[in-house]
Amino acid sequence: MFIISLIKIFVIYYFLCFSKKSNELKPLSNEFIYDLKINHQKNPFAIGIEENNFSFLSKEDGPFKAYLFVGNKLVQSKSVNLSESYSFTFSKPLKYNKKYRYIIQGTNTRNELEFETTIKLKSDFIKPKNKNIFSPIFIKNFSLDENISEARLYITGLGLYQAFLNQQKIGNAYLTPGFNDYNYYLRYQAYNITELINSENTLEVHMGDGWYKGRIGIQYDKKMDDLWGDEYKLCAHIIIKLINGKEIHIETDKSWKVKSSNVIINNIYDGEIVDYTLESNTYEEVVKYIKGYNLIPDFGALIIQKDILYPELYISPKNETILDFKQNMVGFVRFKGNIKYGQTVNMSFGEILQNNNFYNENLRSAKQLYTIIGDGKERIFEPKFTYFGFRYVLIQGLDNVNPKDFEGIVIYTNLEKTINCTTDNPKINKLMKNSYWSQRGNFLDVPTDCPQRDERLGWTGDAQVFSNTACLNMDSYIFYKKYMKDLRGDQLLYYHGDIPDFSPSLRKQANSGSAVWADIATILPYNMYLNYGDINLLKNYYPMMKDYVNTLVNKDYQYLILNRFTYGDWLALDGEKDLDCFGGTDNGFIMSVYYYNSVDILTKVAKLFKKHWDFFRYKRLKNKIYEAIINKYFDNNGKLLLDTQTSYVLCLYYKIYKNKDIIINSFKERLSLDSYQIKTGFTGTPLILLTLFDNNMDEYAYHILFNENYPGWLYSINLGATTIWERWNSLLENGTISGTSMNSFNHYAYGSVCESIYTRIVGFRNLSPGWKKVRIKPHINYRINQMDFSYKSISGKYVINWSIKNNIFYILIEIPFGCKAIIELPDGKKFINNNGKYNYECKLDKKFFLSEAKYN
Ligand code: BGC
Repeated sequence: MFIISLIKIFVIYYFLCFSKKSNELKPLSNEFIYDLKINHQKNPFAIGIEENNFSFLSKEDGPFKAYLFVGNKLVQSKSVNLSESYSFTFSKPLKYNKKYRYIIQGTNTRNELEFETTIKLKSDFIKPKNKNIFSPIFIKNFSLDENISEARLYITGLGLYQAFLNQQKIGNAYLTPGFNDYNYYLRYQAYNITELINSENTLEVHMGDGWYKGRIGIQYDKKMDDLWGDEYKLCAHIIIKLINGKEIHIETDKSWKVKSSNVIINNIYDGEIVDYTLESNTYEEVVKYIKGYNLIPDFGALIIQKDILYPELYISPKNETILDFKQNMVGFVRFKGNIKYGQTVNMSFGEILQNNNFYNENLRSAKQLYTIIGDGKERIFEPKFTYFGFRYVLIQGLDNVNPKDFEGIVIYTNLEKTINCTTDNPKINKLMKNSYWSQRGNFLDVPTDCPQRDERLGWTGDAQVFSNTACLNMDSYIFYKKYMKDLRGDQLLYYHGDIPDFSPSLRKQANSGSAVWADIATILPYNMYLNYGDINLLKNYYPMMKDYVNTLVNKDYQYLILNRFTYGDWLALDGEKDLDCFGGTDNGFIMSVYYYNSVDILTKVAKLFKKHWDFFRYKRLKNKIYEAIINKYFDNNGKLLLDTQTSYVLCLYYKIYKNKDIIINSFKERLSLDSYQIKTGFTGTPLILLTLFDNNMDEYAYHILFNENYPGWLYSINLGATTIWERWNSLLENGTISGTSMNSFNHYAYGSVCESIYTRIVGFRNLSPGWKKVRIKPHINYRINQMDFSYKSISGKYVINWSIKNNIFYILIEIPFGCKAIIELPDGKKFINNNGKYNYECKLDKKFFLSEAKYN
């Protein structure tokens, strides 16, 4: 057996490395096999050795063989079916500090991707001996008198770090090492510093508080200061490879020095104060810090500069000098100029104007302020350890403000945009764009609720409802993989199986287990599987799903969850009191329905993994919950005993009813009583249009979507929104803010409406994990006559363009190789196609243009 394997390896090795003939016959081509990626990244750098996800796309049939080489040595191989090519792992982990070639060999061609693995960084930290040093700069000088072939820096810190070699910023990342529970794990990053190395070198690592240290948490609470520690710590390792084959290692030890920087205050919420007159040259000693952290290679994508916006100057009625970036964005401002010695310049960041003047009272206690005290030198100024959510910047203290000296640096986690969707309706286009901008603004290592006030936390409900839209807008695989690790960490460390309302939970500061929010434990891993087809990831998170469901089992009373806390249909408009945050849908009903849904998902996953015992147990439980909901919430005739939009949505979406027609009729009556206006909150809103479209109520769905008045999505567009608002009326009709206690203008939860646009109006629905098989069934209506859509799925790019002209519906469809689409035209005709381009048309009869509902 061993001999046969050896011969096999030799033949493959010979074939790939030495057979000139085979190279001629099978030229390297990226035409047929393309998009080789690791962890969904085209240029992975210094990756970890475990849990790596390999993928590729092909325009030819298999069989495919995947190989891993180190130099010319074949180290692993695997046969891959096209049906799983979007996602596979090699059976053994990789090795640290090696250069690999990942090769995919098809029948006629092959393609390859080179990558390297990181090192195992030892937990050897240094910290300033003098505890009073604030925002320190750690320094290491070193010289080299031999030629180098390459150099790498492996580094992490507590709190945030930015490293500079010979005064040049290393890498393009911000806010490293990112946001997570540092007691659970701490990521280290790797940088290629070959080009920055000279013969005399100074490495400077600037450090700030970040999420680790200083102020964090909802509203100001002193006890939350220094949550993970009160000292700055740094761990770094430089490896320089010389031309002669030797290596030089520079690690954090007592030979480093530290000094105070000119940053007086830095804080995620409050901003930064930097005094350039304060440059200190007094170097002080460092001491070793030996407590071990769980150091792991960064496995996500870094926060980087993704865009630059250029402002216009605006002078307000109060004579304020304001920069308007025309877009609610997240990041900071880069200013090039000269600030006189001792002069103070303040930049305040706000989302809206009020009475045409600067306004930022909705930030609550967050200051969002960047203060610079100048030293008379021409510089490029930018903060290092904070970020702002803003459209407007109030500039104070600068003699002449030239907007050309300012840039708005848009930062977010480096994910690829995967969708393009435009219609002939500019307002719907704007809505989709706003949702995308809100995703950009809230995807900063953690899916945050908002980027501006004193929260910016990974609220689980918001993340849960937005996850499908997010996965369509961007390749969010690596981002949510990291977030799922955070959820699991919180679950294990602090919540005994339950899931907090936000994660990282800031060391148990979040409440545990509210329905809809905590259900992210089952919904997100399953959505990730459906969107990206990575069964290994789902397998890894099966225990999280199960532990969570088991906490629900402990909470239930006769298969219902009734008297517990949930935010429920948060911010719905049918609550008891006006301006009540809690909606009118019974919380017991919501909790029980989400209990049912979580158990239902677990049942499906147990079946997939052939966990027979779990499958039977959860299936039985699911049926019991179903029965209990029916018995408690429906009368003998099948009428739902609740009467809110969200309650009908939940029945229909999760298919819990005695008689569907009765529910649909009551839902229609409810809508009529509500004047066909949306009343739903965080629970109902993401599902209402999906539910209407799936139950032959397209006209209602379109009517609600196209409502231009409050409450509705287009209301905010009419009032100039450039991102999604937290509330249906974050601004009142006259442009006045509706309240300041909880009012963000960049809150993606309601942006989840894009899922309905993409999957129902475009009609692009996922029928199998990784979008291998889809249904294309546009829900058309006279309000949209043109749709141009494409989606780069993990299985390849789909294109759907449709239009309606002179009562004829035209559609063009492109299906990627290895995929299948069931196409359903508005006239009911069906086609099933594999890869290729297809054109269809059909005549529309009058019923497509008639409105079924009578709107009061
Ligand atoms: C956040 C929400 C979150 C909620 C909990 C708010 O302060 O901004 O989006 O889900 O609290 O209800």
